[in-house]
Amino acid sequence: MLYLKDLVYHPTATPTPILKQIDLELAPQQMGLVIGPSGSGKSTLLETLAGLTEPTAGQIFWREQELTSLHLQQLGGLVFQFPERHFCGSTILEEVRLGHPEWKAEQINGALEAVGLAHLALHTSPHSLSGGQQRRLALAVQLIRQPHLLLLDEPTAGLDWSMRRQLVSLLAKLKADWSLLVVTHDAGELLAIADRCWTLNHGELHPADPQSLRAKAQQPEPVS
Ligand SMILES: Nc1ncnc2c1ncn2[C@@H]1O[C@H](COP(=O)(O)OP(=O)(O)O)[C@@H](O)[C@H]1O
Ligand SMILES: [Mg+2]
Repeated sequence: MLYLKDLVYHPTATPTPILKQIDLELAPQQMGLVIGPSGSGKSTLLETLAGLTEPTAGQIFWREQELTSLHLQQLGGLVFQFPERHFCGSTILEEVRLGHPEWKAEQINGALEAVGLAHLALHTSPHSLSGGQQRRLALAVQLIRQPHLLLLDEPTAGLDWSMRRQLVSLLAKLKADWSLLVVTHDAGELLAIADRCWTLNHGELHPADPQSLRAKAQQPEPVS
């Protein structure tokens, strides 16, 4: 269980806090979805949960234990927005192994299997993969570390309809083993698999009901 209590992030350079008294609870094997417009603080929230940004105030717990940034770096696996832009391996093997030469073939295959890429040759260049495959490779890079919490920043952004569907069904599958926290400005298909939803506006997080958001999304656009 992930539990955030009154989390605030207020760098001195900004007149108002970027994250304001955030409370959030996420159970294991659940997917939480935070929906907010650009600039609302979504990436900052994920970076805080990944231990990359130190909160100004508030607490983060995993089960009963309060976590430091160092704990969070071990617990969480953050997949950045457009992760393919940061690929630096020249092969799939290099990309997955980056910084961890000790990983065995078995672990690497396991991670690639989990994201449906085990059929590809390990010497394939990450840049030659389709957009959807690149996103899945970025997920494998985190999964191999066995994080408890997967943090995904705009995982469907820039993908076409069919790749988005594939990615969403992969996330639905990963939920069986991990807690997932996904942030997006465009919930779309992600709503279908979310167990918990929140909206984020100007750093304020409010719970939202996934079912009513789904119903709203299914209403036809008014014709003008
Ligand atoms: N370290 C920082 N110092 C000052 N402002 C920041 C910092 N990090 C993010 N911001 C600002 O905080 C707001 C939220 O940013 P971000 O978390 O990237 O939003 P989102 O991911 O929802 O688009 C933006 O207005 C951004 O410019
Ligand atoms: Mg962002």
